[in-house]
Amino acid sequence: MRAGKRTWAAAAGLAALAALPAGAGPATAERVQTAQEAPVQRFQLAPGRTRSFLVRPPRPAGRLEVRALAVGCRGGGRLSVRPPRGARRVINVSVPRRWTRVLMPLPEGRHRLRLRFVAPRGGPRCKVVLRGRPRPLGRSVKLGAAARSDRISDPRYVRTLVRNFDSLTPENEMKMFLLQPRRGRFDFKPAEALVRLARRNRMAVRGHTLVYGSQLPEWVEYPRKPWTRKALLAVMRRHITKVVRHFRGRVSQWDVVNEAIDGDGRYIRNVWFRAIGPSYVEHAFRAARKADPDADLFLNDNSTETTESPKSRAVYRLVRRLEHRGVPIDGVGLQNHTDTEAYPRRRSLVASMNRFARLGLRVELTEMDVLTNPRLDRAGQLRKQALAFTAAEQACRAVAACGRITTWGFTDNTTWRRPKDRPLLFDRHYREKPSFQALARGVGLPSAARHSRRATRASAGR
Ligand code: G3I
Repeated sequence: MRAGKRTWAAAAGLAALAALPAGAGPATAERVQTAQEAPVQRFQLAPGRTRSFLVRPPRPAGRLEVRALAVGCRGGGRLSVRPPRGARRVINVSVPRRWTRVLMPLPEGRHRLRLRFVAPRGGPRCKVVLRGRPRPLGRSVKLGAAARSDRISDPRYVRTLVRNFDSLTPENEMKMFLLQPRRGRFDFKPAEALVRLARRNRMAVRGHTLVYGSQLPEWVEYPRKPWTRKALLAVMRRHITKVVRHFRGRVSQWDVVNEAIDGDGRYIRNVWFRAIGPSYVEHAFRAARKADPDADLFLNDNSTETTESPKSRAVYRLVRRLEHRGVPIDGVGLQNHTDTEAYPRRRSLVASMNRFARLGLRVELTEMDVLTNPRLDRAGQLRKQALAFTAAEQACRAVAACGRITTWGFTDNTTWRRPKDRPLLFDRHYREKPSFQALARGVGLPSAARHSRRATRASAGR
């Protein structure tokens, strides 16, 4: 018992723990102080008993982060924390032993939070530690990651993904070469596998990407006779309509057009541009809006993390033009593929994001990864990489229009870069890196590090 207590006290980062009260907790409401991190609530729950707390969110309104740690209920069972109305998710955790968290957007006022331990009658009591802390609304940055369908049979991969990220972007599975490999023949299977995984774990999905000049099926890229404008426009519209309708209600955001502009600020001469002309961008957005009026529509591009380059200026002008023409665009994705030497600094990112925000658009960092410098020792590499992620996190938090940072993959063994470049947040053994800790501090996942550390330990022990 003693050893057990030490383990979970250490896991929770609590220096001193008073003895747990004996017996089942009364089903009365208690008050959770939320002006700052709430005092730790410790109690026991007998199977089938419910315990309520009254919580008061920050003013004028905000999110309350509630974390619960269930320990010592090894007989099996589930601890559920049912938040008040409007909360994003219900904590429902298999006991024993994990810290789990829920972020609840709460309007002003007092709210009742209910905890229930569901286990066979006569089973062990569950010791619970509860903490809460408020986060101002609109300041929390979500964290997403690109994922690959061919890796989801690996439990370590899935565990790391679903525990630490709020959203998922299929890395290749929604590109045209996979979705419509032959004209009129759609294959949704690999993309579906990822969308279902996301939904099972209450993660949002960013659709990537409807119109892109790369990773096209051969029948589009190398037609027997050159495309006419009319024919290729029809192909593009049909593809968008079919795909967006298929995922309607399940994909909340689309990269409608990906990488339209080259380094000199000109349109990339891809097949869409060559046959349709620059208006392909506008037509793509209109078709996407028609197919799902509720999805957020993004233009996604690289090298827009500064305001100064010819490319960045051209992307800005394109977006402004789209806005003026009433094209339905909701946001701009800044990919932010970078490295430890030249990574965009906070100030530059803020300036670029604000420029789009002033047009009334949302912004996100959509494909971030940071190559490390092989000339540095490992500690130096990791430290510099963490600085690059910190700059991104601080910039995103400083700009109200920035809602999310997505990394392009999440473990160094499944990156589109060379694994030895170590560009991501977890190493090839799924251990979190300093970059993850740097990012997690700002994106409201303080417990995530603990989750993953423990998950890594558990898998290493196997
Ligand atoms: O589909 C074939 C498969 O049949 C074959 O067996 C296998 C053998 O290598 O290759 C598979 O194709 C790979 C494809 O990804 C799908 O997995 C290609 O080799 C590989 O080069 C391709 O790379 C992708 C790259 O886009 C292509 O440009 C990366 O995984 C993907 O991360 C990357 O993503 C892009 C974003 O979409 C847009 N922004 C830049 C970013 C990085 O390039």
